[in-house]
Amino acid sequence: MTDTHQGAPEVPPSVRMYEMLYSSLVSQVLIAVAEVGAADVFGDGPEHVAEVARRTGCHTESLYRALRALASVGVFSEVAPKVFTLTPLARTLRGDGPDSMRDLARYLGRPERQRSFGAMAHTLRTGRPAFDHVNGTDLWSLLTTRGELGTLFDRAMGNMARMVNSSTLAAHDLSGARRLVDVGGGQGHLVATLLARYPELTAVVFDLPRVIPEAEAVLGAAGVLDRATCVGGDFFESVPTGGDTYLLSWTIHDWDDDDSVRILRNVRTAMADTGSQLLLVDDVLPEGDAPHFGKFEDIVILTLLTGRSRTESEFAALLSRAGFTHVETRPTTAPTSLLIAHPN
Ligand SMILES: C[S@@+](CC[C@H](N)C(=O)[O-])C[C@H]1O[C@@H](n2cnc3c(N)ncnc32)[C@H](O)[C@@H]1O
Repeated sequence: MTDTHQGAPEVPPSVRMYEMLYSSLVSQVLIAVAEVGAADVFGDGPEHVAEVARRTGCHTESLYRALRALASVGVFSEVAPKVFTLTPLARTLRGDGPDSMRDLARYLGRPERQRSFGAMAHTLRTGRPAFDHVNGTDLWSLLTTRGELGTLFDRAMGNMARMVNSSTLAAHDLSGARRLVDVGGGQGHLVATLLARYPELTAVVFDLPRVIPEAEAVLGAAGVLDRATCVGGDFFESVPTGGDTYLLSWTIHDWDDDDSVRILRNVRTAMADTGSQLLLVDDVLPEGDAPHFGKFEDIVILTLLTGRSRTESEFAALLSRAGFTHVETRPTTAPTSLLIAHPN
């Protein structure tokens, strides 16, 4: 939340704590406003909240209070009484546009996920995912059995993939690469961007079979399906061979060390001994108290899955167990970094 104490001499810890305890409300209001599609009904100019409410089927005064709260943190702007415009932040809540975060917001609002965070104390007591405890199954199984939830998850990951795309591209020159395999590549947004940037490159998107038709649709819409293959499978079994560049974006952090080593060893087996590279796009945590978004991303994984965010030395140890040497870590403008490794 914004600092409402500017100029005040000293803010007692209880007041700071009160605000921290309520800080998740910013997220909750964003999720609700994205769910009703309020940002989507705006044109280029301002809109009266009564019109936004009419077009989204909302209760005008309640929607007004939500937009007013969000305007106080820079999402929407109240330019005249009860009249709002979109700010750049509010624009990301729209369903259209390359930097849309709407599907991510809608996925974050799903009761299966919200319930899990309400039960996080279970995870702290047992070390097991609260998600499994409250939903009676693990996340990956539920995404498979509940098709519409699986698709929403994939689309949410697509929002995140597009967020990291440009900074990942800027962090590393792939002009020497010929065949890239994106392991756990989801809907293929990163591959679509890379194929558009590097005309000599061909690519494989490898993911669970249920995700493959979605990846084919994204790559087809991007006009790059002639240089891409989408392969369904299980990275605990094997990974497609023939790549000189293997990429895992926001995927290793979903798994504990032993599972991560199994995945990375399968990548090591699939890649050629010389001239190959492994690229990991992931949160790389600073040591100590230093703030980093990945420290809270780690709590998401802790509560929902069995993985973890890692420090650079933890990644280096993991890579070494799987037959790689960590060469370099490059920061990007997204919360993630790019780790580069070579096969031993
Ligand atoms: C957190 S998402 C990241 C997706 C994508 N790389 C991105 O950056 O948006 C992890 C991906 O791993 C895939 N995945 C999970 N288990 C898998 C398995 N056993 N084999 C292959 N892919 C798997 C999921 O379907 C999902 O697309």
